[in-house]
Amino acid sequence: MLNMNCIRELARNVGNNHVKLCGVTWSRHLSSPSTSQDSKKPKTGIMMLNMGGPQSTDQVHEYLLRIMTDRDMIQLPFQSKLGPYIAQRRTAEVQQKYKEIGGGSPIFKWTTLQGELMCKKLDAESPATAPHKHYVAFRYVNPLTDDTLDQIERDGPERVVIFSQYPQYSCATSGSSFNAIFSHYKGRKLPAGVKWNVIDRWATHPLLAKCVAERIRTELDQFDESCRNDVLIMFSAHSLPLKAVNRGDAYPFEVGSTVQLVMQELGYSNPHSLVWQSKVGPLPWLSPATDDALKAYVKQGKKNFILVPIAFVNEHIETLHEMDIEYCHDLQKELGKDVTIRRAAAPNDHPLFIDALCDLVKSSLNGALPAVGLKFLTRCPHCTNTRCLQSKEWFSQICS
Ligand code: FES
Repeated sequence: MLNMNCIRELARNVGNNHVKLCGVTWSRHLSSPSTSQDSKKPKTGIMMLNMGGPQSTDQVHEYLLRIMTDRDMIQLPFQSKLGPYIAQRRTAEVQQKYKEIGGGSPIFKWTTLQGELMCKKLDAESPATAPHKHYVAFRYVNPLTDDTLDQIERDGPERVVIFSQYPQYSCATSGSSFNAIFSHYKGRKLPAGVKWNVIDRWATHPLLAKCVAERIRTELDQFDESCRNDVLIMFSAHSLPLKAVNRGDAYPFEVGSTVQLVMQELGYSNPHSLVWQSKVGPLPWLSPATDDALKAYVKQGKKNFILVPIAFVNEHIETLHEMDIEYCHDLQKELGKDVTIRRAAAPNDHPLFIDALCDLVKSSLNGALPAVGLKFLTRCPHCTNTRCLQSKEWFSQICS
C-alpha cells in the first residue's frame, strides 16, 4: 500500500535523477520517453493510451484546459468560453493537491515502467513480432497522442497495437483517445504498410482480476484475524455523469464485471460494494459517492474497510490524494479511532499485471483477439456525436 510515508518520499524526490518510492529506487530514464529499445528499429509498436496527469504543478492549467475543452470528455454549454473559465478557476486548488502528493502525477513513470516490462517480456516470448517498443500516448499532457503518432511514424514499425490502458471502456476516456487518433489522421495519409490492431477494453481479463485480488489480500493480511472476514471491500471507480450513462456508455457495467471477477477470485471471502468517486459539478453522477458510502456504513456499524481502485491501473491523483489523504487519513479521523480504512495499491508493476498486458498484446497480434472488437465499433444507442460515427468507421477500415 502507498502510505503517507511513500507520498512524502515522492515529494522529496521529484526532479531528482534517482527517485526512491516505497523502498524502490527508480532511475531518471523512467521519466524520459526514450527506452532501451530505441537503438533497434521496432517491428511492433504498442501505443499505450491514457489521460495522463501533470508531472509538475506548472502543467496543471494546460491539463485542465485540455480536459474542459474536450467535448468527448465533458459537454458544457458555451464550452469554448466556459471550459477555459472553469480550468482557470480550478487551477490553484488542483495545483495544491498535486503539491500534497509530491508536486506531480506519477502516471507517466508508472506507464513507462509498465511499457518497458511488457516489451521486455514480449521480446522474450514472442520473437516473431520483436522487437517490441511501447509508446505512451496521453490525451491531456505530454507525451500527447499527436506527438506519439508522429514518433511512431518516424520509427516505422510494421505493426501497431493501439492499447487502451483503461480496462473498462468509457466514451469519455478511452473513446476520447480513440477519437483523437482518428482526428490526427483526418486529412493526412496513414503510414504505408502498417497493420493496425485495437485493444479497447479488457475488464474481464483473468490476470487483471488475479492481480487486483492479490493487492486486496495484501491489505486483508494487515487486519487482525478476528475481524478479517468482516472487512468491507469497497471497490471505488471514477464516477460518470448520468447523462453519459443514459446515453448507453458501457463503463458502469464493465466496472461491475471486473468487480465480480475479483470477488470470484477471492472466493467471496468478504462483503463488498461498488462506489464512485471524483464527481465534479452540480449535475447527477453515478452514486453512491465513496465518502458518503463510508460514512453510511460506519453508521450501520461497520468498522473496517479496504478501498480498491478498480478502474485505475496505476497510482495518480485519485489514489494518492483522494483515497489516501482525503479518505484513508482525513475521513478516517472524522469517523473515529475504531474505524480503519486501508487502500489496496493499484496494479502498477505487479508481475500478474504485466503478464495481463503481455497476454492481451500477444492475443491481439496472433489473432486470438479480433483486430478491432465489434463492441468498440458499435456506438452508444443515444450517441449524437458525429466524431464517434466517423471515428468508428475509420477504425473499422484501418483494422480490416
Ligand atoms: Fe458513446 Fe458516441 S458517446 S459512441
